[in-house]
Amino acid sequence: MKRLSVYAGEHLVGCLNEDGGNGMSFVYSSHWLANPEAIPLSPELPLADQVFRGDLVTAFFENLLPEGDVLEFISKAAHISSGNIFGLLERFGGDTAGAFSILPEGMRPSDQPHYLPVTPESILQWFDRSRGIPLDLSGEQARMSLSGAQDKMTVFIDANGDISIPLGAAPSSHIIKPSLQHRHDIPNTAINEAMIMMLAHHSKLDVAEVRYAAELGAVVIRRYDRETGPGGRLRRLHQNDLCQVLGIPSGKKYESEGGPSLKTCFETVLAHSTQPALDKKRLIEWVIFNVLVDNMDGHAKNLSLITIGKRTRLAPFYDLVCTTVYPNLSQKLAFKIGGENRPRWLLLRHWDRFAEEIAAKPQFVHKTMTDMIQRVESALPNTVTMLRSTISKPDEWLMIEQIQERVRTSAVQMKTRMKNSG
Ligand SMILES: Nc1ncnc2c1ncn2[C@@H]1O[C@H](COP(=O)(O)OP(=O)(O)OP(=O)(O)O)[C@@H](O)[C@H]1O
Ligand SMILES: [Mg+2]
Repeated sequence: MKRLSVYAGEHLVGCLNEDGGNGMSFVYSSHWLANPEAIPLSPELPLADQVFRGDLVTAFFENLLPEGDVLEFISKAAHISSGNIFGLLERFGGDTAGAFSILPEGMRPSDQPHYLPVTPESILQWFDRSRGIPLDLSGEQARMSLSGAQDKMTVFIDANGDISIPLGAAPSSHIIKPSLQHRHDIPNTAINEAMIMMLAHHSKLDVAEVRYAAELGAVVIRRYDRETGPGGRLRRLHQNDLCQVLGIPSGKKYESEGGPSLKTCFETVLAHSTQPALDKKRLIEWVIFNVLVDNMDGHAKNLSLITIGKRTRLAPFYDLVCTTVYPNLSQKLAFKIGGENRPRWLLLRHWDRFAEEIAAKPQFVHKTMTDMIQRVESALPNTVTMLRSTISKPDEWLMIEQIQERVRTSAVQMKTRMKNSG
């Protein structure tokens, strides 16, 4: 029987066993169970001296792997079938979302994490050749795995801005996400994401810090699940996306595929947060913000919980994009709001139904909507001015203008609907 070791820093958390077929089981180590600071992999896999098997184990680990085309690409390249979660994590699970590092049995995280300095040119080549995954290193391997359907590379960026690739179990500090290269009908996604994330930040939402790197044609995102510890060493923080919290596979991240509804997401966040009232407000703001910026792709894997010490909170927001500028992407919201997922059909009564579903006062939701509209409208000009200084290409500029227009229109529409039905 083959085994993988799951580490948190230098601590052995447990072993993932390949049980035959595509079955896997997970067992916590006695050392981890005896550690007063131990955290479980997810709420569905609580700290206990037992063998965990079946869908809950599969869902937790599968949610750490890339999805869609990227999964297909790396599977082919590594000669591992795309359904072989165990095999893919054996090869790529060294640096994942959250606290855990997954390594072949017998391999331990090194006391001195190893990094390979790289140039912007080589990063561009890896995006051209292998979806941002450095597959052709000689010697120690890059073992990086993040979920999502878009190309991305996890890197370490030091105080001087120098970039290197984590090797083995070394942690990354940033994510580099270029515009989609294989979909010409969906251009300039990096500038789009940079703009919406910066707009969210200037609208006083708690979001991951981003910058647009014109030389890479990519958005560079600081990881909120890493912190600098003593001696400048990076420490991993525990996070679960909402599919992991609920123990469901990434294939159910959309409500329309049988995934969780907004009501379930609110209940889940509130059940685990140590600041439920504050996180409820933040989550309401996220729902409203997504409508204001025309982001139809706010699904259950685009929300996470982060645990620092004994505190669990809704994580900073990430992956915010104005998706309706691309006619080939869905024009419906990932989550229904009060039973409606067509953004232009959202009336005050839908928001009131949403308030009822999440056990909030309708007046509180209205007030938050008015407040968010005002915050977004006043943040918009500043955000555009700041981005303007980082770009030089006319098509990127056009994208920014187009998004600006959409956000302005949807803010006016939300205001009008609130007045007319109120
Ligand atoms: N700033 C961040 N810090 C830590 N983890 C992050 C951060 N941004 C993203 N992640 C993790 O990486 C995963 C993938 O990121 P992201 O959602 O940006 O990718 P994507 O390919 O655009 O996803 P999608 O399939 O929704 O389009 C997230 O689900 C989250 O677990
Ligand atoms: Mg995402």
